Amino acid sequence: MDLNLKGKVAVVTGASRGIGRAIAESLAGEGCHLVLCARGQAELDETCRELGSRGTSVFGMVMDITRPDAGKLLADKALQEFGHIDIFVGSAGGNKRGNFADTTDADWQEIIELNLKAHLNTSRAVLPAMRQQKSGSILFITSIFGREAGGKGLSIYNTTKSALISAAKIMAIELAEDGIRVNTVAPGSIRFPGSSWDNRCKSDPEGMKSFVASNIPLGRFGKAEEVADVVAFLSSDRASWISGACVPVDGVQSKSLI
Ligand SMILES: NC(=O)c1ccc[n+]([C@@H]2O[C@H](COP(=O)([O-])OP(=O)(O)OC[C@H]3O[C@@H](n4cnc5c(N)ncnc54)[C@H](OP(=O)(O)O)[C@@H]3O)[C@@H](O)[C@H]2O)c1
Repeated sequence: MDLNLKGKVAVVTGASRGIGRAIAESLAGEGCHLVLCARGQAELDETCRELGSRGTSVFGMVMDITRPDAGKLLADKALQEFGHIDIFVGSAGGNKRGNFADTTDADWQEIIELNLKAHLNTSRAVLPAMRQQKSGSILFITSIFGREAGGKGLSIYNTTKSALISAAKIMAIELAEDGIRVNTVAPGSIRFPGSSWDNRCKSDPEGMKSFVASNIPLGRFGKAEEVADVVAFLSSDRASWISGACVPVDGVQSKSLI
C-alpha cells in the first residue's frame, strides 16, 4: 500500500531514540521531510545524520518540549524550511513510579507537564498552519496504561496518559471541521536497545521471561518499528476516516474492551 506521504512535512517530538526515532525513520522511509526534537544533542545529531544519509530532508532542534515556546519554535522551523506542516507526532514522554502516598506535588507537576501539557502546547502551535491548508494529522503516543489500570506505582503515569487520550478525543471532534484528524497510539511493552525493558531483560532474564509469558499473549516484547508503522499509516490519508481513535499496539497485552 502506498501511503502517499512523499513530500509531506512531519514534526516529531522525542525523536532521538526509541519509539520516536522509529517513527521518524518510518515517516522518512515514506518520503516525509522532518523536523525532530529532543533535549540531548548527541543522540539527536546522530539520528538526523543517519536519516540525512538516506536522503531525508531533516532538521533537529535541541529543546525541552515543556518550555512554553517549544511548539512555536517547532512550527516556525517547519514552516521556514518546508512551507507547510502535515503531520505532528508527540512521542516524548516519561514516568515517575511510586506508590501514590509517597508521590509529591512536584512529581505530579513534572510528569503532567511532560506527558500532557507539553503535547497540548506543541500540537496547538501547528494548528494555524493545518487549519489554513484544511488538512493535517496530529498523533500522540500514549500507553495501554492510559486505556486501563497499569497497577501499583503508576498513578502519575496512568493519569497523564488517560488525560492525553481524553484530550485527543475532544480535539478530534473540534478539529474535524478543519480537516484535521487527531489520534493516539497506545503501545504495550516495547523493547529496543537501551530501553528500560531491555535493561530489565538483561538484569533479570528469568523474571522478564515469566512477565512476557503471563502478560503478553503474542509471546514477546513489541518493537519500536511496530509502533512506528501504525503511526505512519494513521498519519496518512489512507486513514482518512480514522480520527479520535486510540489504537493499541501491544501483542494483546491490554485487556480493555474499548
Ligand atoms: N517503551 C515502552 O515500552 C513504552 C510503552 C508505552 C508507552 N510508551 C511511550 O512511548 C513514548 C516513547 O517512549 P520510549 O520508550 O521510546 O522513550 P525513551 O527511550 O525514553 O525516549 C524518549 C525520547 O523523548 C525525548 N525526550 C524525553 N523528554 C523530553 C523532553 N522533555 N523534551 C524533548 N524531548 C524529550 C528523549 O530524548 P532526550 O532525553 O535527549 O530529551 C528521547 O528522544 C513515551 O511517551 C512513552 O511513555 C513507551
